[in-house]
Amino acid sequence: MSDIAVEPTEIPAQLPNIRVAVLGAGKMGGILLQAFLKQNLFALDQIHATVGHMEKAVALSVQWGVDVSTDNLAAASQADLILIGVKPFQVPDLIAEIKPALTTEKTLVSFAASVKTRAIEEAAGLDIAVIRAMPNTPSALGAGAAGLCKGRFVSAKQMELAQRIFETVGRTVVVDEKHMDAVTGLSASGPAYIYIVIEALAEAGVKVGLPRDIATLLAAQTTMGAARVVLETGDHPALLKDAVTTPAGCTIDGIMELEEGKLRVTLIKAVVKAVQRAKELAFS
Ligand SMILES: NC(=O)c1ccc[n+]([C@@H]2O[C@H](COP(=O)([O-])OP(=O)(O)OC[C@H]3O[C@@H](n4cnc5c(N)ncnc54)[C@H](OP(=O)(O)O)[C@@H]3O)[C@@H](O)[C@H]2O)c1
Repeated sequence: MSDIAVEPTEIPAQLPNIRVAVLGAGKMGGILLQAFLKQNLFALDQIHATVGHMEKAVALSVQWGVDVSTDNLAAASQADLILIGVKPFQVPDLIAEIKPALTTEKTLVSFAASVKTRAIEEAAGLDIAVIRAMPNTPSALGAGAAGLCKGRFVSAKQMELAQRIFETVGRTVVVDEKHMDAVTGLSASGPAYIYIVIEALAEAGVKVGLPRDIATLLAAQTTMGAARVVLETGDHPALLKDAVTTPAGCTIDGIMELEEGKLRVTLIKAVVKAVQRAKELAFS
């Protein structure tokens, strides 16, 4: 995985002079848009969003206090930065729809799983900057993880702007495009795996007599604490695990059960399968 060198930051904390369109403001697009609003990243009248259904557009417009419509072309025409948040199979039609509004001055940021930057560049039919991003749902709490990669016509400044945007909802990494499906299978799908782990730990707490709410709190807080230690110390998880594992203590007995139940290999296989599926998505 190779990081792309980015020039020192020139992007200001607020971006009131940049007009943004979020085309497909559903779960993920809505999370991003609400983070922009919360952080006052763009001026309200500089944000335009679209969804597929008119009644949803009206409701979201009232809820968010920004222009939400079903008119992708109008939204794209009024934007410098165009975020694409529809389902992967809808991306080609969406690009065809907004094509008259596209110029080489604009930046496209797609967070549709599996759709390659080159496919978007070719559909747009011009040398336009296309950045692909893969965020995840904990972005709703500012605790997201997003992988970003750049297409052929992206400047360092455009990449920096995209990073700035995704940093409003969590941490970002810049990777080569060949790694984007891996990011999808690991960190975009990952919250679902971790929820199952938390649910299972909570069930275990219930099995040994704890009330469910207390068991769930302990499981979730422990998961968050362990994740924070990994991120903040930078220590290898195996070393951190060893520090919890007293010789002949309780933890080693628990670990033996995890090894017998093949937790490690099961998680590895889960990510590998999700990555395989991510590779197919744009074509299904
Ligand atoms: N959910 C995640 O965890 C996650 C993570 C990373 C990336 N993504 C990517 O984000 C994209 C959206 O996923 P999602 O989970 O947010 O799905 P979603 O909630 O169904 O959002 C899709 C949005 O697109 C709108 N839409 C449908 N047709 C449209 C059209 N022709 N023009 C404009 N908007 C249209 C839908 O509006 P209506 O509801 O009115 O039909 C909806 O608001 C996908 O490409 C996915 O790969 C999702």
